[in-house]
Amino acid sequence: MIGIPRIIKQFKIEGQFESASPIGSGHINDSWLVTTTPAGAPDYVLQRINHHIFTNVPALTDNILRVTRHLRQRLLCRDDSLSWFRVIQLIATRGGNHFFRDPDGNYWRLYDHVRDTTSYDVVGSPAMASEAGKAFGLFQYLSSDIEASSLFEILPDFHHIAVRLQTFRDTVHRDPAGRVAGAQSEIAFAESRVEEMHTILHLGEQGKIPLRVTHNDTKFNNVLFNRDQQAISVVDLDTVMPGYLLYDFGDAIRTGANTGDEDEADLTKVNIDLALFEAYARGYLGVVGKSLWPAETAHLAFSAKYMTYLIGLRFLTDHLNGDHYFKTGFPGHNLQRARAQFKLLQSMEEHFGEMENIILAFDSN
Ligand SMILES: Nc1ncnc2c1ncn2[C@@H]1O[C@H](COP(=O)(O)OP(=O)(O)OP(=O)(O)O)[C@@H](O)[C@H]1O
Ligand SMILES: [Mg+2]
Repeated sequence: MIGIPRIIKQFKIEGQFESASPIGSGHINDSWLVTTTPAGAPDYVLQRINHHIFTNVPALTDNILRVTRHLRQRLLCRDDSLSWFRVIQLIATRGGNHFFRDPDGNYWRLYDHVRDTTSYDVVGSPAMASEAGKAFGLFQYLSSDIEASSLFEILPDFHHIAVRLQTFRDTVHRDPAGRVAGAQSEIAFAESRVEEMHTILHLGEQGKIPLRVTHNDTKFNNVLFNRDQQAISVVDLDTVMPGYLLYDFGDAIRTGANTGDEDEADLTKVNIDLALFEAYARGYLGVVGKSLWPAETAHLAFSAKYMTYLIGLRFLTDHLNGDHYFKTGFPGHNLQRARAQFKLLQSMEEHFGEMENIILAFDSN
């Protein structure tokens, strides 16, 4: 493999390359923190882009460039109340691109490193959930005047219920790994909720919710926190593309307001954490509240159920298909993940009235 110092030479950095050390949990891309000399010169984040998942790197880069430039521009036109927000910046190559393809066919890019920040895998407190809601809310708010359909759809039909169901049902029908008999109750669980889960798609088709620029990976560890535990930036922009805002809100709750792990085996540990839900919604709506369309606000609580269902369905489909998409740590891992998602969904169903009331309370303020 071509060495990191040689990769860095391709980019227009300030200072001289000093060191590179891995950062992040590395689920999708590989990332390194790159330091430079002299002291005071900026640090950078080097990433090898997973071009097996993201097959169109030029279009992906173009999406990121357009959105980050727009966000920076909008911040410039604003008063100081938003000056806490940092927009990550792609560094140009010497050839004028914003990614570099090495002789082995790997794609690389470089971002400026946002100083003195940390990301966390687990939401530590309602205060931090609220901060994350604020950051994703601001990302949403600042990108709201970009014509969403002009962005490239990086992962087509990513959250499209009809497409995902079609794949699920085809897989059940074909039973390629001989696992259908052992997953009857999960399949029945998924089938029993199909109708309700078309709600967001129908709202979109009826023009009641707009297509917007969406992040599509609103996990907690994609928020950067400063030393005072304030959220100051949003990273991981690979999946920025046209979508419904409800997908982003719902996935933030699915991943950030679960009392258990995504693949928890002990289902009694898996529940919706209403305090974290309330806190995230408070931070989020504090920024975007007034700009949402009525049908968006009215379906925020539902969106958490939807995303939990959808990801559960995808885990189940992958299990039935023989585990080709999600990396598994042990046999049955994807089935366990699906069960944990479906348990989380059940918990949301039990507390749905409370979730709706929480949103309603913010909406009437
Ligand atoms: N510009 C940046 N400034 C500071 N830290 C960053 C920056 N970009 C990324 N990071 C840190 O690196 C981590 C991984 O980056 P990113 O989320 O873009 O990659 P990823 O492929 O999604 O990795 P993971 O699977 O760990 O989420 C982030 O969670 C964050 O902590
Ligand atoms: Mg990430």
